[in-house]
Amino acid sequence: MQATANKLQETMGTLPTEVSPTYLPADEIDPKTGKKQIKTMKALVWVGSKDVRVVDDAPVPTITEPDDVILKVTGTTICGSDLHLYHGEIMALQEGDILGHEFMGKVHEVGPNVQGLHIGQRVVASFQVACGDCKYCKQKLSSFCDNTNKSSLQNYMYGQRDAGFFGYSHFTGGFPGGQAEYVRVPKGEVNLLPIPDNISDEQALYLSDVLPTSYHSVVDTGVEKGDIVGIWGLGPIGQCAARWAQLKGASRVIGIDRIPERLAMAEQAGIETINFDQHKDVVKRILELVPQGLDVGLDCGTFHEPKAWLHKVEKALMLETDVPETINEMIVAARKMGRCGIIAAYAGFANHVNIGALMEKGIRLIGNGQAPVHKYWREILNDYIIPGKFDPRFMITHRVPLEDMGRLYGAFDKRTDGVEKVFVQTQFSDSPGEKCPALTRVKDWA
Ligand SMILES: NC(=O)c1ccc[n+]([C@@H]2O[C@H](COP(=O)([O-])OP(=O)(O)OC[C@H]3O[C@@H](n4cnc5c(N)ncnc54)[C@H](O)[C@@H]3O)[C@@H](O)[C@H]2O)c1
Ligand SMILES: [Zn+2]
Ligand SMILES: [Zn+2]
Repeated sequence: MQATANKLQETMGTLPTEVSPTYLPADEIDPKTGKKQIKTMKALVWVGSKDVRVVDDAPVPTITEPDDVILKVTGTTICGSDLHLYHGEIMALQEGDILGHEFMGKVHEVGPNVQGLHIGQRVVASFQVACGDCKYCKQKLSSFCDNTNKSSLQNYMYGQRDAGFFGYSHFTGGFPGGQAEYVRVPKGEVNLLPIPDNISDEQALYLSDVLPTSYHSVVDTGVEKGDIVGIWGLGPIGQCAARWAQLKGASRVIGIDRIPERLAMAEQAGIETINFDQHKDVVKRILELVPQGLDVGLDCGTFHEPKAWLHKVEKALMLETDVPETINEMIVAARKMGRCGIIAAYAGFANHVNIGALMEKGIRLIGNGQAPVHKYWREILNDYIIPGKFDPRFMITHRVPLEDMGRLYGAFDKRTDGVEKVFVQTQFSDSPGEKCPALTRVKDWA
């Protein structure tokens, strides 16, 4: 799939963008020879399906365009979306691509146009590279920016294209990502949010993606006071969405997953759970619990884990790329005129969608899109994190060094050792903050 997509993209040519994904490498003087050489860093690169590695010779970026900021990364992580890359399910990945779209750090260098940020300032990056000026950016719908993704392939498949994303293949612009010691952030003043001193890195990092994404799923699908909400998938996105739904006044929240630690984490917060290994017919179980059907369903799962043999076969034969089982369960388990939101990432085509039930029941099926981080990150920081109404540290189960990132992909994919969300430290990180796990090595996980 990668070779075909890359070939197609090459044949179609790229679309014009306001920012270039390729960066200039920084130099340094070799202390032994006194000669200039390219400065290198550790970074996680994609090599092939289920093959990602930490290299130590990736070039450190320097200012390439006048609005750039170069960050020294103090915190990064892995996201459920990275697993789609790991499985090679997102198009146009190339060997050597630096991955990672959720990261924060200290400003290391600024371009000549950057006025509002200073060297050493602590900032978190949005997972999207937005231009700040187009009609979507003016409404803070940063993930839908028109000007930063050169992928003609995405434009052809979807009619328009999303913003460029950090570390997420050439289908989303080919920008090197943040599972690295340094990152170049194009349009730095647009795509970085300053963090106050009294907020730790572990509290701030997830403003990059998980927090705005889960918040968006709840707000955009429209959870209202008194609603009964079903959440498919209790990874970090589902766990946070469940808590946002409670904060927005949901009367009951029901989480569906099969990983015991994830079900237990939800139950601790007063979320009812359904283990889909025990209840093979999830819809039947939901309708036992809520006979009138759910007011709202949120898909926070993943399209690469089919349950039924039919979808396993169709997916293996490439008769479909994505699996619609959760979408069908949501449609049938929702009440008439209920709302169902899809925040889980899908990439291509699915068979056997229950379009009859969707139409006849008047279900409002909402594609939430990639989350517009800029619309929410200030609100989440100021109204929830700073006053202590939402503490993202509840989901951090592990802390590991960047060196372990290659191994971490496999462990996160298998959900080893009860892993939920991870804080990945670099040589520039502070020691673990209050209420956060100590450093472990992935090879020691049970
Ligand atoms: N739209 C966005 O902006 C955005 C941003 C970040 C993540 N995402 C997506 O959100 C999803 C969740 O992310 P995450 O980090 O929590 O991922 P994750 O992989 O850690 O969690 C996914 C969970 O879904 C569960 N699951 C799998 N199949 C299921 C099924 N049939 N029914 C119920 N649960 C099922 C898994 O057991 C797992 O616990 C992913 O698809 C990710 O790509 C979207
Ligand atoms: Zn993500
Ligand atoms: Zn824009």
